Amino acid sequence: MKVGVLGAGTMGAGIAQVASQSGHKVVLVDLNMEVLDKAKASLKKVLDRLVEKEKITREKATEIESNITYSTKTSDFAPCGLVIEAIVENIAVKHKVFAELEGIVSNDCILASNTSSLSIASIGSVLKNPSRIIGIHFFNPAPLMPLVEIIPAVQTENHVLTQTKNLIDSWKKVTVLCKDTPGFIVNRVARPFYGEALRIYEEGIADFATIDWAMTELGGFKMGPFTLMDYIGNDVNYAVTESVFAAFYYDPRFKPSFTQRRHAEAGFLGRKSGRGYYNYAEGVAQPEPTKDTALGEQIKDRILAMLINEAFDAVFMQVASAEDVDKAMTKGVNYPKGLLVWAQEIGYSKVLNQLEALFVEYGEDRYRPNPLLKRMAASGATFF
Ligand SMILES: NC(=O)c1ccc[n+]([C@@H]2O[C@H](COP(=O)([O-])OP(=O)(O)OC[C@H]3O[C@@H](n4cnc5c(N)ncnc54)[C@H](O)[C@@H]3O)[C@@H](O)[C@H]2O)c1
Repeated sequence: MKVGVLGAGTMGAGIAQVASQSGHKVVLVDLNMEVLDKAKASLKKVLDRLVEKEKITREKATEIESNITYSTKTSDFAPCGLVIEAIVENIAVKHKVFAELEGIVSNDCILASNTSSLSIASIGSVLKNPSRIIGIHFFNPAPLMPLVEIIPAVQTENHVLTQTKNLIDSWKKVTVLCKDTPGFIVNRVARPFYGEALRIYEEGIADFATIDWAMTELGGFKMGPFTLMDYIGNDVNYAVTESVFAAFYYDPRFKPSFTQRRHAEAGFLGRKSGRGYYNYAEGVAQPEPTKDTALGEQIKDRILAMLINEAFDAVFMQVASAEDVDKAMTKGVNYPKGLLVWAQEIGYSKVLNQLEALFVEYGEDRYRPNPLLKRMAASGATFF
C-alpha cells in the first residue's frame, strides 16, 4: 500500500521514514520545496549513520531512500491507501486541507491526522465520508519513539480502526487505543509532571535544580521537569498546557503556571534560545540541588501522586484501558514505570491519603482525588 504524508517538518519527515522502513512506497508532500530538500538531506544523513553503525545494510538504506518521493502537489496522493497529515496545528488550515484531500484520494483511502491537541471529530467533520477519519499520533522523534496513539473519532467506522491499528502495529510501533479527548493519553496524564513541579517551585518549597534532582535521583525519571521543559521549549509546553486547560473547560487540575508563562514571554524558551530555567551559555556553571532526601521524597511523592491521579482519571473516564495508560507513559515519554503499576506498588491507600492531605490543606479542586482511586482503595481491588 502506498502511504501519503502531508507536511515534511519535524513529524512528517519522521513518519515518512517509519513508513518507508516498513517497506511502503511513500509520497511526502509539503508546500515548501526547501523543507522537502531538507527532509531528504537529513534522512540521508540518518541512514548513513545507521549504515556506519551497522544497524542496517547499505542496500536497506538505499531501499528506504528510494521508497520516498518528494512533492509539492497533493494530487500525487491519488494512489495512496492512507494519508497522514502532519502540518501546522491550526484547525482552520486542517479543515481546508482535509476537504481538499478527499477530492484527490480513492473512496477507501484512510485519512489520518497526527494532531497533538485538536479534535479528530472536528477535523473529520469537513469530509463527505467522515467514517474514514482517524487520529494517528506519533511522538517526537517518530522513528525512535515506539508509542503511537490511535484515536477513532465518533464518526470513525470500526474497520477503519482495525485496519489502522494492524498497519501501525506492523510498523513495529506500540499502539494504544484512545478516546478523542483533549491531550489524548500522554499529553493529558503527563500534565502534573510540569504543572505540579512549577507549583512546588512557586510556593518556594524548592528550586528548579532540587526538584529536577528529586524526580531523577529519587523518582527514577530520565529527566527532571525543568530540564525537560527546557528541552521541549517553554513556548511549546506552555501552549500545550493552555490548550489542554481550555479544552477541559478550565478544570483547575490543568491550570497553566505564571512562572512558565513569564519564562516564555521573556524569551527564556530553553535549550533552543540558550536560556530557560537553566542558562546554557558556554562556561556557565549549573546550579547545584539541595540534596536533602526528606525534602526530595516529599517533592517526588507529591508530583507522583498527582500523576497517578491523572492516570486513574484517564481510566475512570474511559479514555483508555489501564494497560494502555501504562504503556503510553512508558513508551511515549519514557517513564520509569507505568503509573498504575507504580500506584499498586506504593499502595492505592497511601496515594489517596497523600492527595486527601493536599486537598484538605489547600482546599483547591486541583487536588481532588479521583473517584476510581477512592473506590479501588476502599475495596482493595487492583488493576493488575
Ligand atoms: N513536534 C512535535 O513534537 C509533535 C509531536 C506529535 C504531534 N505533533 C503534531 O504534528 C503536526 C506537525 O507538527 P511539526 O512539529 O512536525 O510541525 P513543523 O512546523 O515542523 O512542520 C509542519 C510542516 O507542514 C508544512 N505545511 C504547513 N501547511 C501546509 C499545507 N497546507 N500543505 C502542505 N504542507 C504544509 C510546513 O511547510 C512545515 O514543513 C502538528 O499537528 C503537531 O501538533 C507534533
